[in-house]
Amino acid sequence: MNVTAERTTPIWGAPDIDAEPLQGDLETEVVVIGSGIAGMSVAYELASAGKQVTVLDRGVIAGGMTARTTAHLSSYSDDGFQELIKMRGLDNARGWQYSQAAAISRIEAIQRDLGANCDFRRIDGYLFLAPETDPSVIDAELVASAQVGMLAVRQEGLPFAGEEATPALRFPDQATFHPLKYLAALSTAISKAGGRFFAFTPVVSVEEKNGGVDVATVGGAHIKAQSAVVATNAPVNDRFSIHTKQAPYRTYAVAFEIPRGSVPDALYWDTLDPYHYVRLQPGEGGVDLLIVGGEDHKSGESDNGQERILSLARWMRERVPSLGQEVTRWSGQVLEPIDYIGFIGRNPGEKNVYVATGDSGQGMTHGAVAGMLIADLILRGDSAWAPIYEPGRKPLRAMGEFLKENATAAKNYAQYLTGAGERSSVDDLLPGEGAIIRSGLAKIAAYRDEDGTLCQRSAACTHLGCQVHWNSFERCWDCPCHGSQFSPQGEVLNGPAISPLGKIES
Ligand SMILES: Cc1cc2nc3c(=O)[nH]c(=O)nc-3n(C[C@H](O)[C@H](O)[C@H](O)COP(=O)(O)OP(=O)(O)OC[C@H]3O[C@@H](n4cnc5c(N)ncnc54)[C@H](O)[C@@H]3O)c2cc1C
Ligand code: FES
Repeated sequence: MNVTAERTTPIWGAPDIDAEPLQGDLETEVVVIGSGIAGMSVAYELASAGKQVTVLDRGVIAGGMTARTTAHLSSYSDDGFQELIKMRGLDNARGWQYSQAAAISRIEAIQRDLGANCDFRRIDGYLFLAPETDPSVIDAELVASAQVGMLAVRQEGLPFAGEEATPALRFPDQATFHPLKYLAALSTAISKAGGRFFAFTPVVSVEEKNGGVDVATVGGAHIKAQSAVVATNAPVNDRFSIHTKQAPYRTYAVAFEIPRGSVPDALYWDTLDPYHYVRLQPGEGGVDLLIVGGEDHKSGESDNGQERILSLARWMRERVPSLGQEVTRWSGQVLEPIDYIGFIGRNPGEKNVYVATGDSGQGMTHGAVAGMLIADLILRGDSAWAPIYEPGRKPLRAMGEFLKENATAAKNYAQYLTGAGERSSVDDLLPGEGAIIRSGLAKIAAYRDEDGTLCQRSAACTHLGCQVHWNSFERCWDCPCHGSQFSPQGEVLNGPAISPLGKIES
């Protein structure tokens, strides 16, 4: 099971790459754990270079956050280049921008070579001023963009109502695509090159052994490999070191019909924090789709998803009065690295285990970077981009963020031990509702399904014990500490947790 089991369905529909669960032990050169854009990109690069690759996923193939993305492909930092330069220095910021632009080019080349038919388009990206933000930010970002080597053109006005004079930067040569069509093309190419896929095969441990790696699955099967790549969005092999350097945020998206040509095909995002992001997707019969996203909040810290979607819709309709009917609404989670760059490379302290995580709202390009960087590490032992994305780095300039994000974790451990429940009794729960209920020293994550059946599980996240929170929009339990998500009945949907929420002794 993975996040495809959440209640909402993104605009891309359900992934449909067939694969059976793994039944027995096997040996392979490289085992890739996780079949999102990161895992698939690594598997594709290695399989194309002649490596024997096996891809495992805890649920359906390609059913992770990549199936819930909005797939802007941009080499502009969503934290802004001024902030990135301050945090990581000019050389790293330049290298990051260069690698992200190279990732877009790599996706473009791969989809062309594979005839992927995944709606890939090179389009402009626009950063525009939100009225609530300091107007100097646009000029400052123009200067910072030049410093990191990204072409930006200053302009006034956007093709949105009321934004005719809004200051903006235009970034040429950004891109977008249909993420699931792209992953389907990668999976076909990986299979043709001899790669194997196993779905519904949760990995429970990844250990270096005898000069290689031993990967154990929940069914008891073991995979022996020379190298393992943990591309599970939130790493399932790491308990602390990376998780303390990133934080999970939930973000929302909604798609509308729109008459073709009403809004030029481009990427749009504003300077608000959290920012709004907008793109188009080709439709049929002269009707395209406009997707708007944003309204992010720390996972588990808010449970008003429907209101956030309405707020996105209102914001968009004010700017695009020709917006048609809503097609679908959904949400997902992104992992924000405290020093603004993802963690991609050798897992700290290990030789043959690699990791890709912390890709913020830029996981598409980070996934393609992971493909190139990790393939270089495995095939050639080094990558010019390794220092930029080094997973073991100490983010010394991000101490403020480190303390802030880890204070949230401390608060949530304490909440499990000391806080009151949200309801006094399970009797108050209506069908489809979940809530935390105190029971003596413990707390219970209680859910009543549509048939009235009550399910009660421990409310302590099985990763490190934070208290989970009910998410009524997706009908799942979210852990605010490091991003685990569980089904209403307590099954894991998203790591780093591996085990389901604990049973309650009756
Ligand atoms: C609403 C939304 C909008 C976004 N918009 C953008 C955007 O415009 N541009 C952009 O670049 N990024 C965007 N992102 C971010 C981007 O979608 C993600 O960063 C990216 O998809 C992450 O890819 P991944 O391969 O790391 O993870 P995933 O796609 O989540 O893949 C990880 C896989 O690992 C599997 N797994 C987990 N645990 C285990 C285990 N124990 N054993 C086996 N398998 C396991 C999961 O089932 C999953 O299939 C957005 C995200 C959301 C939610
Ligand atoms: S994800 Fe780490 S404690 Fe829940």
